[in-house]
Parts: sequence; C-alpha cells; structure tokens
Amino acid sequence: MKYKKNILITGGAGFIGSHVVHLFVNKYPEYQIINLDKLTYAGNLTNLKDIEKKNNYIFIKADICDFDNILSIFKSHKVSDVIHLAAESHVDRSIKDPFTFAQTNVIGTLSLLQAAKECWKEDYSSHLFYHVSTDEVYGALEFDDTLFTEKTSYDPHSPYSASKAASDHFVRAFQDTYGLQTVISNCSNNYGPYQFPEKLIPLFINNIRHGKSLPVYGKGENVRDWLYVEDHARAIDLVFHEGKTRETYNIGGFNEWRNIDLIKVMIKVADKILGNSEGASERLITYVTDRAGHDLRYAIDANKIKNELGWEPSLQFEEGIEKTIRWYLENQEWMDEVTSGEYQMYYDNMYSDR
Ligand code: NAD
Ligand code: DAU
Repeated sequence: MKYKKNILITGGAGFIGSHVVHLFVNKYPEYQIINLDKLTYAGNLTNLKDIEKKNNYIFIKADICDFDNILSIFKSHKVSDVIHLAAESHVDRSIKDPFTFAQTNVIGTLSLLQAAKECWKEDYSSHLFYHVSTDEVYGALEFDDTLFTEKTSYDPHSPYSASKAASDHFVRAFQDTYGLQTVISNCSNNYGPYQFPEKLIPLFINNIRHGKSLPVYGKGENVRDWLYVEDHARAIDLVFHEGKTRETYNIGGFNEWRNIDLIKVMIKVADKILGNSEGASERLITYVTDRAGHDLRYAIDANKIKNELGWEPSLQFEEGIEKTIRWYLENQEWMDEVTSGEYQMYYDNMYSDR
C-alpha cells in the first residue's frame, strides 16, 4: 500500500512517544507510522501492545546516534517526515551522567537532521522535521506572575535542559542554513499513564502503594505546570499538521502547582482509592537534599497555540490526576515490569545517601 506520508516517530516506546504513536496510528490509517526507539530503560514495547499488529505501524529498534543506520532507514522506509521525541529525559540522571545526555540529545538529533537533509534535499518544502522539546530550555521563573513565552531567551541550567537547548539550536540552524522545514514545540511537565516511575508523579504513587518514603527535594516549594499527556499528544498532532514552519509553539496546562501541594493531593486521592484513612500516607513525606541547580518555577504561556491553532487542554487537573493515580494502581504488572532490573539498581544508588 502507498501511504500519504511515512512518518518517523522517534522515542515512540517512551512515555509521551507512546501516546503520540497511538494517536497517529489510530487517527491516520493513511499514514505509515515508523516508531524508532533504542529501548533504553525508559522505552517499553508493552506501552504499544494494542497497536503492534496494525497495518500502518512498524517498529524499528535503533539508536538515533548511529548515523549510517539512520540514513539507511530513511532511505529504505522513504521517510517523509519526522516527529522527534527520543531523548534522555530525566534531570536527576543528567546531573549524574551528562555525557549520555549530550550524546543522545545533541548528537542523536544532529544525526536525524543530517539524514533528513541528505534525503530530502530535492524538495525540502514537502517534508517536515518536528522537534518535541521542553520548557526547561527557558531556565527558571521567580515566584511571580511571569510566564515563559516563545520569545523568552534560552537560559538552561541542568545538563538535561542544556542538551535540549542545544538540540533546538541545531534544528533552527538546519532550517536557516540548509532550508530544512522545521517546527519546534516546548512543553511543560506531562503526567499520565506509561511514565517511567523515576519522575515525581508515578514514583510517588508507587511509593504510596508500598508504604515507602516520599523524597521531597528541598522544601517542596518548587512550582511546575502540569499537562495531561494526551493533551500534549493532541497538541503535537495539531502543530505537525497546522503549525507554521520556522515557528515555536509553547504548550502548557495553565496549571501551576507547588510540589508539596501536588503531593498532598496525590496522597489524598491515592489513600481514598487504597482504602487508607484520609491523609494516612502524609507520614511518608521525607524532606531530602535538594536537587542541584533545582529550577524554582516553570510556567508556560500557551496563548500562541490557543489563538493560532485553537488548542486548549481538555482535561481538568482534578480529573486527570485521579485518572492517572487509578491507572498506576490498577496496572501494578506494568509497574513491576519496568521497576525490575536496572531501575532498581539506579533507584537504590540514587537515594542511598538520603
Ligand atoms: P522518556 O524518557 O519516557 O522516553 C524517551 C524514549 O526515547 C524512550 O523510549 C527511549 O528508549 C528512547 N531513546 C532514548 N535514547 C535513544 C536513542 N539513542 N535512540 C533511540 N531512542 C532512544 O521521555 P518522555 O518523557 O516521553 O519525553 C519525550 C520527549 O519529550 C523528550 O524529547 C523530552 O525532552 C520531551 N519532553 C518531555 C516532557 C515530560 O514532561 N516528560 C515535557 C516536555 C518535553
Ligand atoms: O518541564 C518539562 C520537563 O518536566 C521535561 O522536559 C522533563 O523531561 C521531565 O522529566 C520534567 O522535568 P522535572 O524535573 O520538572 O520533573 P520531575 O518529575 O523529575 O520533578 C518534578 C518536580 O518534583 C521537580 O521540582 C523535582 C521534584 N521531585 C522530583 C522527584 C523525582 C522531588 O521533589 N522528588 C523526587 O523524587
């Protein structure tokens, strides 16, 4: 069958990528979706079980840093467009091991850009390279009412955000230097099913279930802007189809929470579902050494994508967080699978000094 587009989605076995792959495979039977993922500790094909047999879906296990292989995949699968999500994504890991972040996030992105440049040079206008990025490239806000807009200067602080900022710059450089058609979106913190339980929300839900301590960094006063992952996937669909090339779109939930307040909400909902007395798990809260260079506050101004593309978050936070907590508590098998092996070693090592 000849497909209208052959879209390479990188990192499709990860948290956000698996939601994007689901959406594109189900919504666009006229597109062939090629999910390319290295299956690091964060990638899990279980996340894609229900679509793996669909005709318009292909999975390829590959490393985005392996340029020769990426180039040959572009050619053999006639890749027409890229939605690039593959990355090392956890800030704490980047503090321990910045090299891996530079390699995957910078060199990996460069390798994809270079393959796209070589394969699409006859007519750049009919191809799109979409980079899915983060609001962390903008640095940190004070506790005031300022927001990150698309015009905010880049000011990354962690090795993770520095690597994402560098990859954004490479994407723009390929647009300006070679004429590759590109678009970038910078999103706030996502939550929902299939997130690896090293991140705040799934980690804490799992720990509440097992009566383990909840390691709150610093005083728990840092603020994050939370967005349900399926709303992010819808925004990516919209930016891919209707976003203007050369542009950046900020995506966020207009939904700021201090970590400690969010943690108390999670405890309340989880205790209710688990049949514990109200607030019982608050005793698990343990204040630990702060994350190095911990950004104070992130908050996105998502008015551009709202006004220009008509996107808005669809789910109220109260509904989204309850749905998410239920999902993790009902999918213990998934949690057990991803928290065995390497995860356990990392986790023990990570918190051994706390
Ligand atoms: P994740 O860690 O859950 O998934 C990353 C995926 O990339 C995994 O499947 C992993 O196997 C794959 N991968 C890693 N290195 C690879 C390599 N060298 N070659 C091929 N595949 C590789 O990440 P996520 O949270 O789903 O984030 C996806 C993207 O969205 C990232 O680019 C991240 O920077 C960005 N982002 C994340 C958030 C968030 O809140 N999670 C917010 C904004 C932007
Ligand atoms: O803003 C978008 C970013 O959001 C993405 O680009 C990243 O890929 C994603 O991991 C996320 O980064 P954060 O560092 O904000 O997410 P994390 O879940 O690691 O932490 C959320 C907040 O909770 C942060 O202020 C640190 C704090 N925290 C985190 C963990 C894991 C704790 O207090 N204790 C913890 O154990």
